[in-house]
Amino acid sequence: MAQLTGFKKIKTAVFISGTGSNLKSLIKFSKLKKSPISINIIMSNNSKSKGLEFAKIYKIKKKVFNFKNHSQAERKILIKLKKDNINLICLAGFMKILSRNFIKNFNGKILNIHPSLLPKYKGLNTHEKAIRFKDKYSGCTVHYVNGRLDSGKIINQAKVKIYKTDTPKKLAKRVLAQEHRLYPEAILKIFNL
Ligand code: GRF
Repeated sequence: MAQLTGFKKIKTAVFISGTGSNLKSLIKFSKLKKSPISINIIMSNNSKSKGLEFAKIYKIKKKVFNFKNHSQAERKILIKLKKDNINLICLAGFMKILSRNFIKNFNGKILNIHPSLLPKYKGLNTHEKAIRFKDKYSGCTVHYVNGRLDSGKIINQAKVKIYKTDTPKKLAKRVLAQEHRLYPEAILKIFNL
């Protein structure tokens, strides 16, 4: 496919910890002719991640790393990524914070999706916070990863209206639907496609 479209797809690793619905949307996107990326490996810190099932379904390599020893896990991941010539990392519901040293090794090549309209509500429980503070909108953001949590340059955002009847769960569901659209769009955007 890459040859047919005249460019080589960028070898991408997706890091997950849980359900992997963003992973699924990225895999589907990667298979489109217009996509500049291929998903070559799925990595997780959690052997029970439901998202790891997509490795089997879509015949993609997967690897689980034990983060009990964080720096050792990062070292092993870096070796694997270099060995596989990975050029882009997409964090998709990955619940570990990567070290500055790790990020330096992939400077400008790590993306993350976050379920809030950054710079509002970095970290966890974003939907609870948006509802508690009576915000009119929540949403999601794709951004580059830098050394500070959820603080890298923003690539794109989608807004989602908050209703009076919303619970964090209801809101999360509607935001997640937008995330599945937003992440592929961010990738097209950074490659000027
Ligand atoms: C998403 O809301 C993502 O923004 C957040 O964690 C959730 C992961 O969902 N960081 P999934 O595993 O992609 O389904």
